[in-house]
Amino acid sequence: MASNFTAHNIRLDDGSLTKPEQPWQMEHVPLLRFTKQFLRMLFPDGFAGKRVVDLGCLEGGYTVELARAGFDALGIEVRQSNFENCQRVKAGTNLPNLTFACDDVHNLAKYGVFDVIFCCGLLYHLDEPRKFVDLMAQVCRRVVIIDTHVAETRRNGKFRLSWVTENEGWAGRWYPEGNSDRWRYEAKWSAWSNRKSFWPMKRDLMQGLQQAGFTMVLECPIFDPDRELAHRVTIVGVKD
Ligand SMILES: C[S@@+](CC[C@H](N)C(=O)[O-])C[C@H]1O[C@@H](n2cnc3c(N)ncnc32)[C@H](O)[C@@H]1O
Repeated sequence: MASNFTAHNIRLDDGSLTKPEQPWQMEHVPLLRFTKQFLRMLFPDGFAGKRVVDLGCLEGGYTVELARAGFDALGIEVRQSNFENCQRVKAGTNLPNLTFACDDVHNLAKYGVFDVIFCCGLLYHLDEPRKFVDLMAQVCRRVVIIDTHVAETRRNGKFRLSWVTENEGWAGRWYPEGNSDRWRYEAKWSAWSNRKSFWPMKRDLMQGLQQAGFTMVLECPIFDPDRELAHRVTIVGVKD
């Protein structure tokens, strides 16, 4: 396959890879392994008939692996160019339980209720993360897994963030997204309609999840030697 995949190196059913030059494959990503293991503990009777949504799914790497694990998996991705890669993944796998939608995640409610919400690399590209946490809580039956950058009081050496301020009642920092139409189409990993995104402080995000109805909120420091761990967290919210 001539690859224009930007990140997700997915093994298709015929053994080919979507980004063969990349040294690691999706199925080996520590966050995915953690997610499957954690979900096996929550759903000991198996994943058949359970619904998961992968928000801002990019090229569908996590979505396809969750479908392979047995979930009814939906990936939502707003960028047409990324969505086309998701469709290539769908065509290269025989998984009737795998679906992709080209849509803005703010329309999540129209897709019904999910047992699991997987939200990796998305929250820090939104300007109203608190409203979005409430939306996820509204359509989530059991568990949300969020992998995201958060703001800290100390300076972030990697990203150019604003001073600590407040947005939607949460403390955090603003992150500037690009501001041209060209950027909107070419920066395939970035925000969609907002020109800046709000990174909340971890404490406010975790408390917000609790207030939204997740009775157990955990931070899970997953060991991944290939990932920049600073300012990035994996947070899990579970409902009773
Ligand atoms: C940093 S990438 C993360 C991709 C993937 N979830 C991962 O962790 O590898 C952010 C993704 O979210 C998508 N995205 C950003 N804003 C979105 C929105 N409002 N609705 C749907 N997708 C969005 C982007 O197009 C991009 O694919």
